[in-house]
Amino acid sequence: MEKLTYTHNADAAAVIAQTYDTPPLAYVRSYGCQQNVNDGEKIRGVLMDIGFGVCDSVEQADLILFNTCAVREHAEQRVFGNVGALKKLKEKNPRLIIGVCGCMAQQKHIVDKLRASYPYVDLVFGVDGIDRLPAMLVERLHRGKRYLETPVERNAVVEELPIRRDSGFRAWLPIMYGCDNFCTYCIVPYVRGRERSRTPADVLAEFKTLVEQGYKEITLLGQNVNSYGKGLEEKTDFADLLNLLCTVPGDYQIRFMTSHPKDASRKLIDTIAAQDHLCKHIHLPVQSGSDRILKEMNRHYTVAQYMDLVNYAKEKIPGVTFSSDIIVGFPGETEEDFATTLEFAKKCGFAKMHIFPYSKRKGTPAAEMPDQVDEAVKSERAARLAKVDEELHQQMLQSTVGKVEEVLFEQPVDDEHMEGLCGPYLRVVVPGTAELANTIVKVKITGIKEDFLLGELN
Ligand code: 5AD
Ligand code: SF4
Repeated sequence: MEKLTYTHNADAAAVIAQTYDTPPLAYVRSYGCQQNVNDGEKIRGVLMDIGFGVCDSVEQADLILFNTCAVREHAEQRVFGNVGALKKLKEKNPRLIIGVCGCMAQQKHIVDKLRASYPYVDLVFGVDGIDRLPAMLVERLHRGKRYLETPVERNAVVEELPIRRDSGFRAWLPIMYGCDNFCTYCIVPYVRGRERSRTPADVLAEFKTLVEQGYKEITLLGQNVNSYGKGLEEKTDFADLLNLLCTVPGDYQIRFMTSHPKDASRKLIDTIAAQDHLCKHIHLPVQSGSDRILKEMNRHYTVAQYMDLVNYAKEKIPGVTFSSDIIVGFPGETEEDFATTLEFAKKCGFAKMHIFPYSKRKGTPAAEMPDQVDEAVKSERAARLAKVDEELHQQMLQSTVGKVEEVLFEQPVDDEHMEGLCGPYLRVVVPGTAELANTIVKVKITGIKEDFLLGELN
């Protein structure tokens, strides 16, 4: 693996300054997971580094960039729809630059489609192009031609990219990139490439900066954070990294996503139990409650092993909560398989389930499996699971009443009330004013209103 360091591209800055009378504006929209949102923040940072300003409407923009997600077909269709809607803007303003980047653009068939059917798209690059974006813009502006990259996999980690973060108190911090797991439904290993970990020193340096800047909730990101450290020279694992970060003094909480159950170790659970800075809420996607389906998905754990881990955590970490991702309608999923998943979800008592109707992804093994499930059946199962999610959510709210929770406050609801989120991402409203924003405060939970909690400062 190669480690690269971003450097300011003075040529690109000069070209931008020559091309535009006033600083041009970029509209960057990210779809999909937090990793992508974080990439979008870096894209904005890099653009600002060469003289762009940012804007939040396409009408104002000189450059429109869609940073896309490929996990489900629905998200891809939305992007094509949104790109299609820009044709008129481009006719009105031929100088407008339109770009598509991210996971969709890492697939050859998508790039071919953009090339053939969307002639007004000027710029296409995949997930590893952010540091090269200034050079691509120079190409586009100088040669006046479209710049569409054929997807390549680049086994590198780029450090010191400038970043323009969306929030002043919640920050994303990638610790690794890529995925080697090849779950049979998932496109991620094909578009995000092989696992690469950042060094503990690089992660620590960014983490310290975030704490110094006043960030209160720092979420460590990776497709599979539990395989952090594989391939690094120094011998380290994810729990070691957490312990290292927790040595940084300050008032902050650490979250992380995503943990693969096959690699989530007891050492990790013990670390969460021991460190006050680690949030007592774990996102642990189970995907299905049926062993047969888990095997077909290539997940490498059984329902019983998953449950063992949950039970161990409940024993070691008082009040721990879990959330999960679940796919419904995976090829071959019978009504019986699905019924086991429903029961399993109830048994685990998930604070939140993210429910995904299975989506066929070209090039993945599951797309070729027999017994694909009808869309209508997927929707019906998704709705039934959503009902269980709602019931569990209500139970979670009820079981929180009377407890004291740490809440990170965000914004006023009105002149007299503030709202924030506690560990399992439950919304909490208390009497208070804007001074509470961006502080972590202990709150006594006193009641429930609709789908959120009421409380008072402890
Ligand atoms: N269809 C439906 N859901 C999927 N996910 C990943 N690939 C697919 C797919 N092809 C879901 C998984 C994963 C989450 C981020 O997206 O549940 O955990
Ligand atoms: Fe996809 Fe599985 Fe990797 Fe997650 S662990 S990104 S679901 S292949």
